[in-house]
Amino acid sequence: MQKIRKAVIPAAGLGTRVLPATKSMPKEMLPIVDKPAIQYIVEEAVAAGIEDILIITNRGKGIIEDHFDHSVELEYRLRDSGKTNMLEQVEALSRLANIQYVRQKETKGLGHAVSCAKAFVGNEPFAVLYGDDVIIGNDPACGQLCRAYEEFGKSVVGIKEVTAEQITRYCSLAVSPAHDNIYHVSDMIEKPSPDKIMSLFSILGRCVLTPDIFDILDETKPGAGGEIQLTDAMRVQAIGGNMMGVDFTGTRYDMGNKLGILQANCEVALSRPDLRDDFAAYLKELVKTL
Ligand code: UTP
Repeated sequence: MQKIRKAVIPAAGLGTRVLPATKSMPKEMLPIVDKPAIQYIVEEAVAAGIEDILIITNRGKGIIEDHFDHSVELEYRLRDSGKTNMLEQVEALSRLANIQYVRQKETKGLGHAVSCAKAFVGNEPFAVLYGDDVIIGNDPACGQLCRAYEEFGKSVVGIKEVTAEQITRYCSLAVSPAHDNIYHVSDMIEKPSPDKIMSLFSILGRCVLTPDIFDILDETKPGAGGEIQLTDAMRVQAIGGNMMGVDFTGTRYDMGNKLGILQANCEVALSRPDLRDDFAAYLKELVKTL
């Protein structure tokens, strides 16, 4: 089976749930401790063996491009002041992967954003990593999906069980077990009303898609919220028997909402050797006041 070499990161959304921070700052650049969300995502793709990455941007997202580019002045200053460790980190960023950019001229939904990647992807399977979903774990979530693609040769979605309250805001999947943490996905629905819920399994932030998705997206009409929904296109593959799901390992942080951002910052800070002790001591004092 063909190896997944390309990844698409849609990062052109308006981020209205995180306003006013996102008025001029893409939510994908919001930091978790000292690293923007999108850097964690690019690093995950690279760790999964992906060589070429396309980031879908829009107006005002130039700072994403700057982040992964050389910063000659900064590098000169760091070298000059002997901050070699920081210099290495900054230089490594511009060598992380072969990153290209394309603009989604109108924010018409995630499905429309993915369709902007057609020329970059060509006729091969590719990974999609949602730009506001950071997943941290020892085994990159994207790599887990790529392995399932190599086993089954079908599109694969990253899935997790969510609460009954959350499922009405996400999408709900019809699944049956294949083996271990891998499932057959036979149907899905975006933002289901309570009577339409198929299971509490939802798609969270990652998928590997076969390239026929582009023809399906061309035919996909606006769905929930008036947007061209990727779920509606993936549903065509699912009901055709061409979709698997991986209940991936790793912790997922939703950087598209305020609580998710706070959780990510707390948990990542507590996992960092350089911050853990001081931050934990601070938190212990803080909780006494709650
Ligand atoms: P979301 O639906 O969570 O992003 O899309 P949003 O539209 O920015 O959210 P709110 O509701 O306004 O807060 C998931 C991912 O898809 C990208 C987003 O940038 C995010 O990373 N996206 C979404 C696009 O690239 N284009 C779109 O038209 C919509």
